Amino acid sequence: MIIAIDGPAASGKGTLAKRIAEHWGLPCLDTGLLYRAVARDVVLLGFRIDDPWAALIAARSLHPAELLDPDLRTPQAGDAASIVARIPQVRTALLVYQRAFATQPGGAVLDGRDIGTVVCPDADAKIYVTARTEVRAKRRFLECQGRGEGVTIEGILADIRRRDERDASRGSAPMRPADDADLLDTSDLDIEAAFDAAVGLIKRKIGQ
Ligand code: DC
Repeated sequence: MIIAIDGPAASGKGTLAKRIAEHWGLPCLDTGLLYRAVARDVVLLGFRIDDPWAALIAARSLHPAELLDPDLRTPQAGDAASIVARIPQVRTALLVYQRAFATQPGGAVLDGRDIGTVVCPDADAKIYVTARTEVRAKRRFLECQGRGEGVTIEGILADIRRRDERDASRGSAPMRPADDADLLDTSDLDIEAAFDAAVGLIKRKIGQ
């Protein structure tokens, strides 16, 4: 069983994907981490973040063990990720790893921006998670504060708006719900309610 969870930054899709994966005993891949790691490696190699050649080399030589770096979680890493994510060759290079993860025996849960549309168009269930921009900014602000990062709500809001615009307007695999995805707006839901709603949607899709 393959479950695709997509949605914009700070919509709650990552937390939901992990809970859903635990519920069905499936492995889970946060695909945003792949783009975040590529962006980090381009900078470490000493190249500009939008250098397609360096980004392709970084994408091709990415190792899963390198995805555990806590620095990949910062808003700056997310912003850099959305810049390398515009490069079609980078997306193609990362597609191989994502497809292999999705098609392992038993299935998997993947979360990202293009899982339902490009990575796993035949997924058994697809959920597109949304939430109002202000709600997403507040959630991300509290998360960053909890990690002791010096951030402001205005800065986070601007970052989210910029990233949404960049992710949705790129030519290659733009962020959008698949035609057969279920939409889940988590603006007024806590994590338990969002999880229950997601499980309900998935069960309906897989006929449980
Ligand atoms: O989900 P995230 O915030 O960790 O993702 C970081 C960036 O990576 C996001 O702004 C765009 C890019 N991304 C993508 O283009 N496709 C994906 N499947 C996942 C992330």
